[in-house]
Formats: sequence, structure tokens, C-alpha cells
Amino acid sequence: MNVAPIPINETRLSILKRSQINASIEQAIDVFAANGLHLPPYAYLTPEQWRQMGSEADEIRHCLLGWDVTDFGSGDFARIGRTLFTLRNGRMDDPRYPKSYAEKFLLDPEGQRAPAHFHRSKREDIIHRGKSGAIILELTPTNDAGIAIEQPLRVQVNGMTRTVQPRERIRLSPGESLEIPPRTIHQFWGEEGGGITASGEVSSVCDDWNDNCFVDPAKRFPKIEEDVPRRFYLCQEYPAA
Ligand SMILES: [Fe+2]
Repeated sequence: MNVAPIPINETRLSILKRSQINASIEQAIDVFAANGLHLPPYAYLTPEQWRQMGSEADEIRHCLLGWDVTDFGSGDFARIGRTLFTLRNGRMDDPRYPKSYAEKFLLDPEGQRAPAHFHRSKREDIIHRGKSGAIILELTPTNDAGIAIEQPLRVQVNGMTRTVQPRERIRLSPGESLEIPPRTIHQFWGEEGGGITASGEVSSVCDDWNDNCFVDPAKRFPKIEEDVPRRFYLCQEYPAA
């Protein structure tokens, strides 16, 4: 007997509640401060202040600076999700924003990670910026078609060349960093048992609309259920000047 597959209710799975976003940003502010990571003034702007902001804030609007909270459509934010703050970025398609570099602070709860993905263009360094805990990374190279290949790859870890195997776990302690070349599938997260910590990303320019290639279907920015008032605008939400 043929049995029809049970349809997946993607709408239900992919909604992230505003209350979760507010709480994660408040937690990130506390964790970043506890680890000596200082945020710029626009991290604290209220929605009302944003609605009065003019074109002087266009770099923040157009380069997706600021808060970024997403479950990538997973419906399981604690496992597949991210809370991060973009401090600087440019745009390759807009001469008003010529920065060729980007920097982010990331909150690293134990076990929470972005879905496995690679970037066609962006080269990024992940730096353990916290005072405690560890960041665990897994890397897998891809071929020209973006398909994972079972080959070792050479990466820079703390300025040293190292050969790692596909999906080998690389552990970063505070101050340590690792380079992720373009076209390398990657995931990283706060080590289980180590407590919540923070990392940084220093990279070439970051195009979050077009340069994230997810191994499995995922959405870079979430659908949001407005169950409570917004406390902060996310980087993709700012009102126009
Ligand atoms: Fe990435």
C-alpha cells in the first residue's frame, strides 16, 4: 500500500518569536560585556530612536550592520540558530560602501550552531573572543560544483598551517583562531559543558543575501512572530530614512 508522506508544516517550523529574539539580544549584551567585548552605540538604539534616524545611518541599514538573530528556519533555535552583531561590512555592488572587510561578534551558547554551509566568496577567520569555554569547528572541502569531498584540507590555525580531515573537530581556546577558506563547508559552536561564550568573525566583505550556500535547505533570515513588542531592530528590518 502506498502511503502519502506527511506534509511538513514549514510555516509552523520556521517562525521565530520576537520574545526569543529580544531575550537572545539581551543575553548577548550581557555575555559580550562579561567577556570585555564592547559594542558601538547603535547596538542600543530603541525602535523609536530608529524611526527618527536619517540618512546618516545608511551604512548601518545598507550593509546589514547591527543585530542578527535567526533560527535559519529550523524551528529549533537552541540547536540551529545564531545571535550575532555585525560591527563593520561593505557592499561589493554599491560604491558608497567600499569596505572590503567585515567583523562580527557572535554569541556561542553550548551546542548552538548555524546550519552547515559554505561561501563562494567570503573568507573568514573565527576567533575565540571569550574568557572561557571552547569553540568547536568542523570543516569539509568542496569541489567546483559545491559538493563535499573526502579530502584533507590545509588551513591556518593560529598562524600555523595545519592539515585537517573532513569533519575533524578542531577546538579553539580563548584567543585562538582558525581561517575558513571560501568553498569550505563549516559549522562551529560553543563546546558542550563549557558554558556560554563569545567568538568573533573577521572576514572579507559579507553578502548575507547571496553568499550563503546551505548544504540542506535553510533560510538566512527568519520569519518572525510578533508575540511581544520589538526591543531592537534586526539588521534586515531597519525603517528607511
Ligand atoms: Fe560562514
